[in-house]
Amino acid sequence: MSKDRLIIFDTTLRDGEQSPGASMTLEEKVRIAKTLEQMRVDVIEAGFPIASPGDFESVKAVAQAVKGSTVCGLSRSLDKDIERAGEALKPANSARIHTFIATSPIHMKEKLRMQPEDVLAQAVRAVKKSRQYTDDVEFSAEDAGRSELDFLCQIVEAAIDAGATTINIPDTVGYNIPHQFGELVRQLIERVPNSDKAVFSVHCHNDLGLAVGNSLASVLNGARQVECTINGLGERAGNAALEEVVMAVRTRQDVFDCDTNIDTSIIVPASRLVSSVTGFPVQPNKAIVGKNAFAHESGIHQDGVLKSRETYEIMRAQDVGWSDNKIVLGKHSGRSALKSRLEEIGIVLDGEEALNAAFSRFKDVADRKHEIFDEDLMAIAQESQASIEKARYHLVSSWVCSETGETPHAKVTLKIDGEEVVGESDGGGSVDAVFSAIKSIVSDHGTLELYSVNSITSGTDAQGEVTVRLEKGGRQVYGNGADPDIVIASAYAYLDALNKLALATDREHPQYSGV
Ligand code: KIV
Ligand code: ZN
Repeated sequence: MSKDRLIIFDTTLRDGEQSPGASMTLEEKVRIAKTLEQMRVDVIEAGFPIASPGDFESVKAVAQAVKGSTVCGLSRSLDKDIERAGEALKPANSARIHTFIATSPIHMKEKLRMQPEDVLAQAVRAVKKSRQYTDDVEFSAEDAGRSELDFLCQIVEAAIDAGATTINIPDTVGYNIPHQFGELVRQLIERVPNSDKAVFSVHCHNDLGLAVGNSLASVLNGARQVECTINGLGERAGNAALEEVVMAVRTRQDVFDCDTNIDTSIIVPASRLVSSVTGFPVQPNKAIVGKNAFAHESGIHQDGVLKSRETYEIMRAQDVGWSDNKIVLGKHSGRSALKSRLEEIGIVLDGEEALNAAFSRFKDVADRKHEIFDEDLMAIAQESQASIEKARYHLVSSWVCSETGETPHAKVTLKIDGEEVVGESDGGGSVDAVFSAIKSIVSDHGTLELYSVNSITSGTDAQGEVTVRLEKGGRQVYGNGADPDIVIASAYAYLDALNKLALATDREHPQYSGV
Protein backbone atom coordinates (compact mmCIF):
# COMPACT_ATOMS: atom_id res chain seq x y z
CA MET A 1 0.00 0.00 0.00
CA SER A 2 1.48 3.38 -0.96
CA LYS A 3 1.94 5.83 1.86
CA ASP A 4 0.62 9.39 2.10
CA ARG A 5 2.98 12.26 1.33
CA LEU A 6 3.94 14.37 4.33
CA ILE A 7 4.40 17.88 2.96
CA ILE A 8 7.47 19.71 4.25
CA PHE A 9 6.91 23.46 4.52
CA ASP A 10 10.15 25.23 5.34
CA THR A 11 9.96 28.63 7.01
CA THR A 12 13.68 29.24 7.66
CA LEU A 13 13.53 32.38 5.50
CA ARG A 14 10.49 33.79 7.33
CA ASP A 15 10.02 32.51 10.90
CA GLY A 16 13.73 31.56 11.01
CA GLU A 17 14.64 35.12 10.13
CA GLN A 18 12.50 36.33 13.05
CA SER A 19 15.24 35.04 15.42
CA PRO A 20 16.95 38.16 16.79
CA GLY A 21 20.13 38.72 14.80
CA ALA A 22 19.35 36.16 12.08
CA SER A 23 18.62 38.61 9.29
CA MET A 24 19.74 37.51 5.83
CA THR A 25 20.49 39.41 2.66
CA LEU A 26 18.52 38.85 -0.55
CA GLU A 27 21.41 36.88 -2.06
CA GLU A 28 21.71 34.70 1.04
CA LYS A 29 17.98 33.98 0.97
CA VAL A 30 18.12 32.94 -2.66
CA ARG A 31 21.09 30.68 -1.92
CA ILE A 32 19.27 29.00 0.96
CA ALA A 33 16.09 28.70 -1.13
CA LYS A 34 18.02 26.98 -3.95
CA THR A 35 19.44 24.50 -1.41
CA LEU A 36 15.94 23.82 -0.05
CA GLU A 37 14.71 23.27 -3.60
CA GLN A 38 17.57 20.83 -4.18
CA MET A 39 16.54 19.07 -0.97
CA ARG A 40 13.03 18.73 -2.51
CA VAL A 41 11.28 20.79 0.15
CA ASP A 42 7.65 21.05 -1.00
CA VAL A 43 6.89 24.62 0.10
CA ILE A 44 9.40 27.39 0.85
CA GLU A 45 8.02 30.30 2.87
CA ALA A 46 10.27 33.03 1.47
CA GLY A 47 9.21 35.96 3.67
CA PHE A 48 6.61 38.54 4.64
CA PRO A 49 6.42 40.86 1.60
CA ILE A 50 4.61 43.78 3.31
CA ALA A 51 7.31 43.97 6.04
CA SER A 52 9.71 46.15 4.02
CA PRO A 53 10.82 46.78 0.43
CA GLY A 54 13.76 44.43 1.13
CA ASP A 55 11.45 41.61 2.20
CA PHE A 56 9.29 42.17 -0.88
CA GLU A 57 12.32 42.00 -3.19
CA SER A 58 13.61 38.85 -1.46
CA VAL A 59 10.32 37.00 -1.89
CA LYS A 60 10.23 38.08 -5.53
CA ALA A 61 13.84 36.96 -6.09
CA VAL A 62 13.13 33.55 -4.52
CA ALA A 63 9.98 33.24 -6.66
CA GLN A 64 12.12 33.95 -9.71
CA ALA A 65 14.96 31.59 -8.78
CA VAL A 66 13.06 28.54 -7.49
CA LYS A 67 11.08 26.43 -9.94
CA GLY A 68 10.87 23.02 -8.26
CA SER A 69 9.18 23.99 -4.97
CA THR A 70 6.09 26.06 -4.21
CA VAL A 71 7.08 29.55 -3.04
CA CYS A 72 4.95 31.06 -0.30
CA GLY A 73 4.54 34.61 1.05
CA LEU A 74 3.07 35.43 4.47
CA SER A 75 0.37 38.04 4.94
CA ARG A 76 -1.81 39.16 7.81
CA SER A 77 -5.50 39.07 6.98
CA LEU A 78 -5.31 42.58 5.52
CA ASP A 79 -5.93 43.58 1.91
CA LYS A 80 -2.65 45.51 1.62
CA ASP A 81 -0.63 42.51 2.87
CA ILE A 82 -2.33 40.11 0.50
CA GLU A 83 -1.91 42.44 -2.49
CA ARG A 84 1.79 42.81 -1.73
CA ALA A 85 2.23 39.04 -1.33
CA GLY A 86 0.37 38.42 -4.61
CA GLU A 87 2.63 40.93 -6.39
CA ALA A 88 5.87 39.48 -4.96
CA LEU A 89 4.86 35.94 -5.91
CA LYS A 90 4.01 36.77 -9.54
CA PRO A 91 7.20 35.21 -10.99
CA ALA A 92 6.66 31.88 -9.17
CA ASN A 93 5.90 28.67 -11.05
CA SER A 94 3.79 27.61 -8.11
CA ALA A 95 2.74 30.28 -5.58
CA ARG A 96 1.04 30.06 -2.21
CA ILE A 97 -0.35 32.90 -0.08
CA HIS A 98 -0.31 32.18 3.65
CA THR A 99 -2.74 34.43 5.48
CA PHE A 100 -3.31 34.40 9.22
CA ILE A 101 -5.23 35.91 12.10
CA ALA A 102 -5.12 35.13 15.81
CA THR A 103 -7.92 33.02 17.28
CA SER A 104 -7.09 32.55 20.98
CA PRO A 105 -9.15 34.50 23.55
CA ILE A 106 -6.06 36.35 24.81
CA HIS A 107 -4.86 37.37 21.34
CA MET A 108 -8.33 38.43 20.14
CA LYS A 109 -9.01 40.46 23.29
CA GLU A 110 -5.61 41.95 24.10
CA LYS A 111 -3.80 42.14 20.76
CA LEU A 112 -6.46 42.44 18.08
CA ARG A 113 -9.16 43.99 20.29
CA MET A 114 -11.73 42.28 18.10
CA GLN A 115 -14.81 40.15 18.73
CA PRO A 116 -14.56 36.49 17.62
CA GLU A 117 -17.29 36.99 14.95
CA ASP A 118 -15.28 39.86 13.42
CA VAL A 119 -12.12 37.74 13.45
CA LEU A 120 -14.01 34.99 11.61
CA ALA A 121 -15.39 37.45 9.03
CA GLN A 122 -11.92 38.91 8.46
CA ALA A 123 -10.40 35.44 8.00
CA VAL A 124 -13.02 34.62 5.35
CA ARG A 125 -12.42 37.92 3.54
CA ALA A 126 -8.65 37.34 3.60
CA VAL A 127 -8.91 33.82 2.19
CA LYS A 128 -11.26 34.99 -0.59
CA LYS A 129 -8.98 37.90 -1.43
CA SER A 130 -5.94 35.56 -1.52
CA ARG A 131 -7.77 33.25 -3.93
CA GLN A 132 -7.84 36.13 -6.43
CA TYR A 133 -4.05 35.67 -6.76
CA THR A 134 -3.59 31.90 -6.49
CA ASP A 135 -5.57 28.69 -5.98
CA ASP A 136 -3.08 27.63 -3.32
CA VAL A 137 -4.10 29.44 -0.12
CA GLU A 138 -3.08 28.55 3.41
CA PHE A 139 -4.97 29.88 6.41
CA SER A 140 -3.38 29.92 9.88
CA ALA A 141 -5.27 30.36 13.13
CA GLU A 142 -2.49 32.02 15.09
CA ASP A 143 -2.18 30.73 18.67
CA ALA A 144 -4.49 27.82 17.78
CA GLY A 145 -2.77 25.88 20.57
CA ARG A 146 -4.50 28.14 23.13
CA SER A 147 -7.75 28.66 21.20
CA GLU A 148 -11.19 27.29 22.10
CA LEU A 149 -11.98 24.17 20.12
CA ASP A 150 -15.53 25.22 19.15
CA PHE A 151 -14.37 28.55 17.75
CA LEU A 152 -11.44 26.90 16.02
CA CYS A 153 -13.83 24.44 14.34
CA GLN A 154 -16.04 27.31 13.13
CA ILE A 155 -13.22 29.43 11.71
CA VAL A 156 -11.51 26.45 10.06
CA GLU A 157 -14.78 25.37 8.41
CA ALA A 158 -15.42 28.93 7.20
CA ALA A 159 -11.85 29.30 5.87
CA ILE A 160 -12.15 26.05 3.90
CA ASP A 161 -15.53 27.16 2.51
CA ALA A 162 -13.89 30.44 1.47
CA GLY A 163 -11.25 28.54 -0.50
CA ALA A 164 -8.35 27.70 1.85
CA THR A 165 -6.58 24.57 0.65
CA THR A 166 -4.28 24.21 3.66
CA ILE A 167 -5.29 24.80 7.26
CA ASN A 168 -2.42 25.46 9.60
CA ILE A 169 -2.71 24.92 13.35
CA PRO A 170 0.14 26.79 15.05
CA ASP A 171 1.31 26.27 18.60
CA THR A 172 2.53 29.85 18.44
CA VAL A 173 3.88 30.07 21.99
CA GLY A 174 5.09 26.46 22.33
CA TYR A 175 2.63 25.73 25.15
CA ASN A 176 1.30 22.35 24.12
CA ILE A 177 2.21 18.80 25.15
CA PRO A 178 2.36 16.13 22.41
CA HIS A 179 -0.63 13.93 23.36
CA GLN A 180 -2.82 17.02 23.83
CA PHE A 181 -1.74 18.74 20.59
CA GLY A 182 -2.16 15.52 18.59
CA GLU A 183 -5.66 15.20 20.05
CA LEU A 184 -6.48 18.80 19.02
CA VAL A 185 -5.58 18.02 15.41
CA ARG A 186 -7.55 14.75 15.49
CA GLN A 187 -10.66 16.50 16.89
CA LEU A 188 -10.47 19.25 14.29
CA ILE A 189 -10.21 16.80 11.42
CA GLU A 190 -13.09 14.77 12.86
CA ARG A 191 -15.40 17.66 13.76
CA VAL A 192 -14.98 20.08 10.86
CA PRO A 193 -17.49 18.86 8.24
CA ASN A 194 -15.43 19.93 5.19
CA SER A 195 -12.03 18.90 6.62
CA ASP A 196 -11.49 16.50 3.69
CA LYS A 197 -11.22 19.53 1.37
CA ALA A 198 -7.97 20.80 2.92
CA VAL A 199 -4.58 19.56 4.06
CA PHE A 200 -4.08 19.97 7.81
CA SER A 201 -0.75 21.44 8.82
CA VAL A 202 1.03 22.21 12.09
CA HIS A 203 3.54 24.90 13.04
CA CYS A 204 5.09 24.33 16.47
CA HIS A 205 7.38 26.54 18.50
CA ASN A 206 9.96 25.13 20.84
CA ASP A 207 9.50 27.09 24.08
CA LEU A 208 9.23 23.86 26.10
CA GLY A 209 11.54 21.89 23.81
CA LEU A 210 8.51 20.05 22.38
CA ALA A 211 8.20 21.46 18.87
CA VAL A 212 9.27 18.26 17.12
CA GLY A 213 7.32 16.05 19.55
CA ASN A 214 4.15 18.09 19.02
CA SER A 215 4.62 18.05 15.24
CA LEU A 216 5.06 14.27 15.16
CA ALA A 217 2.07 13.69 17.45
CA SER A 218 -0.01 15.74 15.00
CA VAL A 219 1.22 13.69 12.05
CA LEU A 220 0.11 10.54 13.89
CA ASN A 221 -3.31 12.19 14.21
CA GLY A 222 -3.78 13.16 10.57
CA ALA A 223 -1.69 16.29 9.88
CA ARG A 224 -0.10 16.01 6.45
CA GLN A 225 2.03 19.15 6.43
CA VAL A 226 4.68 20.13 8.96
CA GLU A 227 6.11 23.64 9.11
CA CYS A 228 9.72 23.65 10.21
CA THR A 229 13.11 25.30 9.84
CA ILE A 230 16.69 24.20 9.26
CA ASN A 231 18.49 23.79 12.61
CA GLY A 232 15.20 24.68 14.37
CA LEU A 233 15.86 28.38 13.82
CA GLY A 234 12.94 30.70 14.62
CA GLU A 235 11.25 33.20 16.89
CA ARG A 236 12.41 32.85 20.56
CA ALA A 237 13.34 29.16 21.19
CA GLY A 238 12.75 28.40 17.52
CA ASN A 239 10.53 26.17 15.41
CA ALA A 240 10.45 22.41 14.87
CA ALA A 241 13.75 21.38 13.26
CA LEU A 242 13.25 20.14 9.69
CA GLU A 243 16.07 17.60 9.97
CA GLU A 244 14.59 16.03 13.12
CA VAL A 245 11.03 15.80 11.75
CA VAL A 246 12.19 14.36 8.43
CA MET A 247 14.57 11.82 9.97
CA ALA A 248 12.12 10.72 12.66
CA VAL A 249 9.50 9.96 10.03
CA ARG A 250 12.03 8.31 7.68
CA THR A 251 13.67 6.22 10.43
CA ARG A 252 10.39 5.13 12.04
CA GLN A 253 8.45 4.06 8.96
CA ASP A 254 7.08 1.28 11.18
CA VAL A 255 5.17 3.97 13.11
CA PHE A 256 4.23 6.58 10.47
CA ASP A 257 1.83 5.90 7.62
CA CYS A 258 3.34 8.71 5.55
CA ASP A 259 6.76 9.85 4.34
CA THR A 260 8.37 12.98 2.94
CA ASN A 261 9.95 13.50 -0.48
CA ILE A 262 13.10 15.02 1.06
CA ASP A 263 16.57 14.19 -0.28
CA THR A 264 18.11 13.70 3.15
CA SER A 265 21.69 13.83 1.84
CA ILE A 266 21.35 17.62 1.56
CA ILE A 267 20.49 18.04 5.27
CA VAL A 268 24.03 18.62 6.60
CA PRO A 269 25.10 21.02 3.80
CA ALA A 270 21.84 22.96 4.34
CA SER A 271 22.41 23.08 8.08
CA ARG A 272 25.93 24.38 7.58
CA LEU A 273 24.80 26.97 5.06
CA VAL A 274 22.09 28.33 7.36
CA SER A 275 24.46 28.35 10.31
CA SER A 276 27.13 30.27 8.46
CA VAL A 277 24.73 32.73 6.82
CA THR A 278 23.02 33.58 10.11
CA GLY A 279 26.05 33.13 12.37
CA PHE A 280 24.00 30.86 14.67
CA PRO A 281 26.33 27.97 15.54
CA VAL A 282 24.90 24.43 15.73
CA GLN A 283 25.38 22.92 19.20
CA PRO A 284 27.66 19.83 19.02
CA ASN A 285 25.05 17.50 20.54
CA LYS A 286 22.22 18.70 18.26
CA ALA A 287 20.35 15.72 16.77
CA ILE A 288 21.24 14.84 13.15
CA VAL A 289 23.35 17.93 12.34
CA GLY A 290 25.49 18.41 15.48
CA LYS A 291 29.19 17.56 15.19
CA ASN A 292 28.78 14.75 17.74
CA ALA A 293 25.50 13.35 16.41
CA PHE A 294 27.29 10.30 15.01
CA ALA A 295 30.45 10.29 17.15
CA HIS A 296 31.05 7.36 19.52
CA GLU A 297 33.28 8.23 22.43
CA SER A 298 32.95 5.34 24.85
CA GLY A 299 35.01 2.21 24.20
CA ILE A 300 31.97 -0.05 24.58
CA HIS A 301 30.05 1.91 21.95
CA GLN A 302 33.03 2.01 19.57
CA ASP A 303 33.51 -1.72 19.93
CA GLY A 304 29.82 -2.35 19.28
CA VAL A 305 29.71 -0.13 16.20
CA LEU A 306 32.80 -1.81 14.74
CA LYS A 307 31.16 -5.22 15.18
CA SER A 308 27.79 -4.11 13.87
CA ARG A 309 26.87 -0.49 13.11
CA GLU A 310 23.25 -1.00 14.18
CA THR A 311 24.26 -1.74 17.79
CA TYR A 312 24.44 1.98 18.52
CA GLU A 313 23.37 3.76 15.31
CA ILE A 314 19.78 4.11 14.15
CA MET A 315 20.65 6.14 11.03
CA ARG A 316 23.60 6.25 8.65
CA ALA A 317 25.63 9.46 8.88
CA GLN A 318 26.07 9.46 5.08
CA ASP A 319 22.29 9.40 4.57
CA VAL A 320 21.99 12.88 6.09
CA GLY A 321 25.01 14.24 4.25
CA TRP A 322 27.92 13.67 6.64
CA SER A 323 31.01 12.70 4.71
CA ASP A 324 33.38 10.04 6.03
CA ASN A 325 35.90 12.78 6.72
CA LYS A 326 38.43 11.61 4.19
CA ILE A 327 40.90 14.01 2.65
CA VAL A 328 39.11 14.96 -0.52
CA LEU A 329 41.29 17.44 -2.37
CA GLY A 330 44.76 18.93 -2.22
CA LYS A 331 46.60 21.88 -3.65
CA HIS A 332 47.12 20.19 -7.02
CA SER A 333 43.41 19.55 -7.57
CA GLY A 334 41.88 21.48 -10.44
CA ARG A 335 38.73 23.51 -10.96
CA SER A 336 36.64 20.64 -12.24
CA ALA A 337 37.65 18.41 -9.30
CA LEU A 338 36.57 21.18 -6.94
CA LYS A 339 33.30 21.71 -8.78
CA SER A 340 32.42 18.03 -8.86
CA ARG A 341 33.28 17.45 -5.16
CA LEU A 342 31.18 20.47 -4.18
CA GLU A 343 28.29 19.04 -6.18
CA GLU A 344 28.75 15.63 -4.54
CA ILE A 345 28.32 17.24 -1.12
CA GLY A 346 25.25 19.16 -2.22
CA ILE A 347 26.74 22.58 -3.00
CA VAL A 348 25.89 24.02 -6.39
CA LEU A 349 27.69 27.27 -7.11
CA ASP A 350 25.80 30.00 -8.83
CA GLY A 351 27.62 30.50 -12.16
CA GLU A 352 31.21 30.94 -13.36
CA GLU A 353 31.97 33.95 -11.17
CA ALA A 354 31.13 31.94 -8.05
CA LEU A 355 33.23 28.98 -9.23
CA ASN A 356 36.18 31.28 -9.97
CA ALA A 357 35.93 32.90 -6.55
CA ALA A 358 35.67 29.48 -4.86
CA PHE A 359 38.63 28.13 -6.81
CA SER A 360 40.88 31.03 -5.97
CA ARG A 361 39.92 30.76 -2.30
CA PHE A 362 40.45 26.99 -2.43
CA LYS A 363 43.99 27.49 -3.84
CA ASP A 364 44.74 30.01 -1.14
CA VAL A 365 43.55 27.67 1.64
CA ALA A 366 45.20 24.57 0.08
CA ASP A 367 48.56 26.37 -0.04
CA ARG A 368 48.46 26.82 3.71
CA LYS A 369 46.52 23.71 4.71
CA HIS A 370 47.57 20.64 2.79
CA GLU A 371 44.64 18.36 3.51
CA ILE A 372 41.27 19.72 2.45
CA PHE A 373 38.20 18.01 3.95
CA ASP A 374 34.55 18.36 2.96
CA GLU A 375 33.99 20.65 5.95
CA ASP A 376 36.72 22.94 4.57
CA LEU A 377 35.03 22.96 1.18
CA MET A 378 31.70 23.98 2.71
CA ALA A 379 33.40 26.94 4.43
CA ILE A 380 35.31 27.85 1.26
CA ALA A 381 32.11 27.85 -0.79
CA GLN A 382 30.36 30.03 1.78
CA GLU A 383 33.25 32.53 2.06
CA SER A 384 33.74 32.84 -1.68
CA GLN A 385 30.03 33.30 -2.35
CA ALA A 386 29.91 36.04 0.29
CA SER A 387 32.90 37.77 -1.34
CA ILE A 388 31.12 38.20 -4.69
CA GLU A 389 27.79 39.31 -3.24
CA LYS A 390 26.88 42.94 -2.84
CA ALA A 391 28.65 44.04 0.31
CA ARG A 392 29.92 47.45 1.36
CA TYR A 393 33.19 46.44 3.03
CA HIS A 394 35.70 43.97 1.58
CA LEU A 395 39.02 42.89 3.10
CA VAL A 396 41.91 43.57 0.73
CA SER A 397 44.77 42.79 3.12
CA SER A 398 45.61 42.53 6.77
CA TRP A 399 49.04 42.72 8.41
CA VAL A 400 49.72 42.16 12.10
CA CYS A 401 52.92 42.40 14.11
CA SER A 402 52.81 40.44 17.36
CA GLU A 403 55.86 39.79 19.51
CA THR A 404 56.41 38.71 23.12
CA GLY A 405 56.47 41.77 25.37
CA GLU A 406 55.39 44.16 22.58
CA THR A 407 51.99 45.71 21.87
CA PRO A 408 50.46 44.07 18.77
CA HIS A 409 49.97 46.42 15.83
CA ALA A 410 47.71 45.89 12.81
CA LYS A 411 47.37 47.52 9.40
CA VAL A 412 44.24 46.72 7.42
CA THR A 413 43.25 47.69 3.87
CA LEU A 414 39.54 47.60 3.05
CA LYS A 415 37.73 48.22 -0.19
CA ILE A 416 34.69 50.40 0.52
CA ASP A 417 32.35 51.09 -2.38
CA GLY A 418 35.22 50.32 -4.76
CA GLU A 419 37.88 52.52 -3.05
CA GLU A 420 40.81 51.25 -1.00
CA VAL A 421 41.17 52.71 2.50
CA VAL A 422 43.90 51.89 5.03
CA GLY A 423 43.54 51.83 8.84
CA GLU A 424 46.09 51.11 11.57
CA SER A 425 45.89 50.44 15.27
CA ASP A 426 47.48 48.88 18.31
CA GLY A 427 45.49 46.35 20.31
CA GLY A 428 45.50 44.12 23.38
CA GLY A 429 46.08 41.11 21.09
CA SER A 430 46.28 40.49 17.34
CA VAL A 431 42.52 40.17 16.87
CA ASP A 432 41.88 43.25 18.99
CA ALA A 433 44.41 45.23 16.92
CA VAL A 434 42.75 44.17 13.64
CA PHE A 435 39.27 45.02 14.93
CA SER A 436 40.53 48.43 16.13
CA ALA A 437 42.17 49.07 12.74
CA ILE A 438 38.84 48.27 11.05
CA LYS A 439 37.00 50.52 13.51
CA SER A 440 39.38 53.36 12.65
CA ILE A 441 37.96 53.14 9.10
CA VAL A 442 34.31 52.17 9.71
CA SER A 443 32.71 54.59 12.16
CA ASP A 444 29.28 52.90 12.18
CA HIS A 445 30.43 49.74 13.99
CA GLY A 446 28.02 49.16 16.89
CA THR A 447 29.11 47.25 20.00
CA LEU A 448 30.84 43.88 19.91
CA GLU A 449 28.74 41.55 22.07
CA LEU A 450 30.17 38.15 21.20
CA TYR A 451 33.34 36.74 19.70
CA SER A 452 33.87 32.98 19.38
CA VAL A 453 36.24 30.68 17.49
CA ASN A 454 35.67 27.07 16.46
CA SER A 455 37.92 24.84 14.46
CA ILE A 456 36.27 23.33 11.39
CA THR A 457 38.44 20.21 11.35
CA SER A 458 41.21 19.02 13.68
CA GLY A 459 44.92 19.89 13.64
CA THR A 460 46.77 23.16 14.11
CA ASP A 461 46.38 23.93 10.40
CA ALA A 462 42.58 23.57 10.64
CA GLN A 463 40.45 26.45 9.42
CA GLY A 464 39.20 28.57 12.27
CA GLU A 465 35.58 29.60 12.05
CA VAL A 466 34.85 32.86 13.84
CA THR A 467 31.44 34.21 14.85
CA VAL A 468 30.88 37.76 16.06
CA ARG A 469 27.72 39.51 17.21
CA LEU A 470 27.31 43.26 17.00
CA GLU A 471 24.56 45.36 18.56
CA LYS A 472 23.40 48.78 17.51
CA GLY A 473 20.23 50.62 18.51
CA GLY A 474 18.62 47.43 19.83
CA ARG A 475 19.39 45.50 16.65
CA GLN A 476 21.72 42.50 16.66
CA VAL A 477 23.59 41.02 13.72
CA TYR A 478 25.86 38.01 13.45
CA GLY A 479 28.92 37.72 11.20
CA ASN A 480 30.92 34.66 10.25
CA GLY A 481 34.33 34.07 8.70
CA ALA A 482 36.63 31.10 8.11
CA ASP A 483 40.33 30.84 7.30
CA PRO A 484 43.32 28.76 8.43
CA ASP A 485 44.62 32.00 10.02
CA ILE A 486 42.19 32.91 12.82
CA VAL A 487 43.18 36.58 12.72
CA ILE A 488 42.09 36.73 9.07
CA ALA A 489 38.98 34.65 9.87
CA SER A 490 38.19 37.20 12.59
CA ALA A 491 38.52 40.09 10.13
CA TYR A 492 36.17 38.32 7.69
CA ALA A 493 33.64 37.69 10.47
CA TYR A 494 33.78 41.29 11.70
CA LEU A 495 33.31 42.68 8.18
CA ASP A 496 30.46 40.24 7.54
CA ALA A 497 28.66 41.62 10.61
CA LEU A 498 29.45 45.23 9.65
CA ASN A 499 28.01 44.60 6.17
CA LYS A 500 24.80 43.33 7.76
CA LEU A 501 24.65 46.33 10.07
CA ALA A 502 24.98 48.60 7.04
CA LEU A 503 21.79 47.21 5.49
CA ALA A 504 18.54 49.14 5.86
CA THR A 505 16.36 47.64 8.58
CA ASP A 506 12.97 49.26 8.67
CA ARG A 507 10.56 46.34 8.71
CA GLU A 508 7.32 45.34 10.32
CA HIS A 509 7.03 42.24 12.47
CA PRO A 510 4.16 40.02 11.26
CA GLN A 511 2.91 39.11 14.71
CA TYR A 512 3.34 42.34 16.65
CA SER A 513 1.52 44.78 14.46
CA GLY A 514 -1.22 45.27 12.00
CA VAL A 515 -4.86 44.36 12.36
O1 KIV B 1 3.94 31.05 15.15
C1 KIV B 1 2.99 31.40 14.42
O2 KIV B 1 1.81 31.34 14.79
C2 KIV B 1 3.31 31.92 13.10
C3 KIV B 1 2.16 32.19 12.19
C4 KIV B 1 2.34 33.44 11.40
C5 KIV B 1 1.90 30.99 11.33
O3 KIV B 1 4.46 32.06 12.75
ZN1 ZN C 1 5.82 30.88 14.08
